[in-house]
Amino acid sequence: MQVDKLRLKDFRNIKTADFEFDGKMNVICGENAQGKTNVIESIWLFCGAKSFRGSKDSSFVRFGAEKGESHLDFISGGTLHNAKMIFDDRRTAVLDEKNLKNPGELAGIFNAVVFSPADLSLVTGGPEKRRRFLDLFIGQIYPNYIDVLRGYARAVMQRNKIIKDYKYDPSVSIMLDVFENEISEKGKKIIEYRKKFLGMLNGYIPGIFSGLSGGKEEIKAVYVANCDAILLGDELKKARKEDSFSGVTSKGPHRDDIDLLINGISARQYASQGQKRSIAITLKLACLNVIFEVSGEYPVCLLDDVMSELDEHRQNYILNHVSGWQTFITCCDPSSVTRLLSGGVFRIKDGGVF
Ligand SMILES: Nc1ncnc2c1ncn2[C@@H]1O[C@H](COP(=O)(O)OP(=O)(O)O)[C@@H](O)[C@H]1O
Ligand SMILES: [Mg+2]
Repeated sequence: MQVDKLRLKDFRNIKTADFEFDGKMNVICGENAQGKTNVIESIWLFCGAKSFRGSKDSSFVRFGAEKGESHLDFISGGTLHNAKMIFDDRRTAVLDEKNLKNPGELAGIFNAVVFSPADLSLVTGGPEKRRRFLDLFIGQIYPNYIDVLRGYARAVMQRNKIIKDYKYDPSVSIMLDVFENEISEKGKKIIEYRKKFLGMLNGYIPGIFSGLSGGKEEIKAVYVANCDAILLGDELKKARKEDSFSGVTSKGPHRDDIDLLINGISARQYASQGQKRSIAITLKLACLNVIFEVSGEYPVCLLDDVMSELDEHRQNYILNHVSGWQTFITCCDPSSVTRLLSGGVFRIKDGGVF
C-alpha cells in the first residue's frame, strides 16, 4: 500500500493543503495544535473506519465551512486508485469515480495501521482495550470475522436479557439452549482466530522490541481465555444459576484478555513507562508484518506523536530502521528531522503546509 498524494479542503483546521508523499518515510512536523494529527487522521479515514480519536463525522468540517473534502491517490494491489471523501453532517466516499454506499466499503482496499498516544492503554488499560485491538486487526484481514463477532455479541445480549428470569422461571431454559449454542459455536471461532493471530504476532514481537529498545528483555503476548473453547457450551450451562443473579454472561471470549509479559512478568505492573510505550508500538508494528504475511501487502503505517516520549535510540530506529512499508510520522521537535536519513518532510503551521 502506498499513498502518493493527499489533497485536503476545509478538513478540521486545514483550509487547503496538497501533499506529494515519499514512498517510504514522511515526517509531518510543527508546533502543538497546528494540524499534524489532522493530516494523519485524514489518511486513516480512508480505511473506512471511524476516527482513532473517536470523533463524530460532523467534527471533520472546518469551523465556518459548509463541507469538507479529502482526496487520496494510492496504490493498492499494484493498481492506482483515487478516493474522495466528502464531509458534512455525515461522510460519503467515492472510489475511482464510483459512489460508495458506505465508507466502510473502503476497508480492505485501503489499509493502514495507526499508533497514537492513546494506544499506551493497550498495555496499561483494561482487557477490553486488548480485545478490541485484536478484533480490529483480525477484522482488517478477514472481514468475515466482523460478522462472527457481531453474531456472538447479539447472542450474548439475548442471553443476558433472559438469564435473570432463570431463577424463577425454568422454562426459559429452552431459549437459553438456543442462545448458548450460538455463543458456544461463534465463541469457539473467535478464540481460534484470536489465538492464531496472536501466535503470528508473537513471531515478530521479539525482533521488533529488541530493535526498538536495544534491550534483551523477552516480550511475549499470551492469550488468556476465561474458558476452554471446547467446554464453552457446558460452562455456560453450569454458570446459569450464578449468572441469573448477576444478570450477565460470565463465560466466553468477551471476557478474555492478553497477558503482555516482559521476562515472564506482567508488563502492566512491572514495565517502565518507556518499556510500556515500546511494547504498544511493537504490537502495532507486528500487525503490519502479519497483515503483509497474510495479504502480501503492507498497510501504510501512521505514527502520531510517538517521538516525544522515546529516547534517541528508539527515535532513530523508528525513523531509519523500520522498512518495507510507507510511514507517516508526526513530531514537534525539529531535531528529529535532522536524524532522518531519507524521506519527505512537511512543516505544518496553522493548518497550512510549508
Ligand atoms: N472542525 C475543525 N475546524 C477548525 N479547527 C479544528 C477543527 N477540529 C479541530 N480543529 C483544530 O485543529 C487544531 C490542530 O489539531 P491537531 O491536528 O490535533 O494538532 P497537532 O498539530 O497538535 O497534532 C486544534 O487547535 C483544533 O482545535
Ligand atoms: Mg497531534
